[in-house]
Amino acid sequence: MSDKNMGFGIDIGGSGIKGALVDLKTGEFASKRVRIPTPQPATPLAVVDTIGKIIDELNVPESVPVGVAFPGPIRDGVITYIANLDQSWLNTNLPSLLKEKLGREASVLNDADAAGYGEVIYGAARGEQGLVFATTLGTGIGTAIIYKGELIPRTELGHIEINGEDAEHRAAASARDREDLNWTEYAARLQVYYGTIEHLFSPDVIIIGGGVSEKFDKYAPLMNLKAKLVPAKLRNRAGIVGAAFFAEQEVKTKNSIGRKISQALASKSENAIVTD
Ligand code: BGC
Repeated sequence: MSDKNMGFGIDIGGSGIKGALVDLKTGEFASKRVRIPTPQPATPLAVVDTIGKIIDELNVPESVPVGVAFPGPIRDGVITYIANLDQSWLNTNLPSLLKEKLGREASVLNDADAAGYGEVIYGAARGEQGLVFATTLGTGIGTAIIYKGELIPRTELGHIEINGEDAEHRAAASARDREDLNWTEYAARLQVYYGTIEHLFSPDVIIIGGGVSEKFDKYAPLMNLKAKLVPAKLRNRAGIVGAAFFAEQEVKTKNSIGRKISQALASKSENAIVTD
């Protein structure tokens, strides 16, 4: 495969940091997946160092865009809130740190945005043009909204308050483990969560991602929603693949915006000569 169709994605999680080269045509991995346990404490420097090790191990070519999925909302590269990783991430500018420590340009986005985007481009909701509400159920609940193939980033709808509680505390996969819920009990929790989401957003498709997507048959038949409910397809590939795709899109957009700006500037200076 030529470098042109190749991307690279990193998915930062609470227990593991994972990366792989990605064939952007198919969404398949183009290398092995490397996973290194998340350093503890998971400070920005320790995590960036781990990302560097994965990039080195996979010999990621300089020409390949790097995408990084992060478990918190990011605005202009800056982490604005962090629920399940070291609090020292707050206000960190991740692309700047990656550039400074690893000498690499990178595109960064929220992990659930990456996974949801990946599912719409390559997975469970491939080609879906309606309103997709994608979720990852893990330590927390991550959410992504995609409409007509366009990602509306940075939603944090795992933290909506339902009956006075943070929804992720009741319905993330970690709540099932912590409270030792059986599938019927867990399905009831999910019904409350997705029922509220449905009431607020009326999505056409809801994707359930994270490890529990593999047990979809245990709880989905017990739920009653108007939206089409589907399990994620890319499984543990989603974050990596979505981040890789996003990075490629960013590079393309930057280039095309750059081209538009220079064209506009060029035509302005031509006009300037004429009108002067
Ligand atoms: C964070 C989200 C993240 C999700 C899954 C939540 O606690 O606030 O940003 O997407 O966990 O990692």
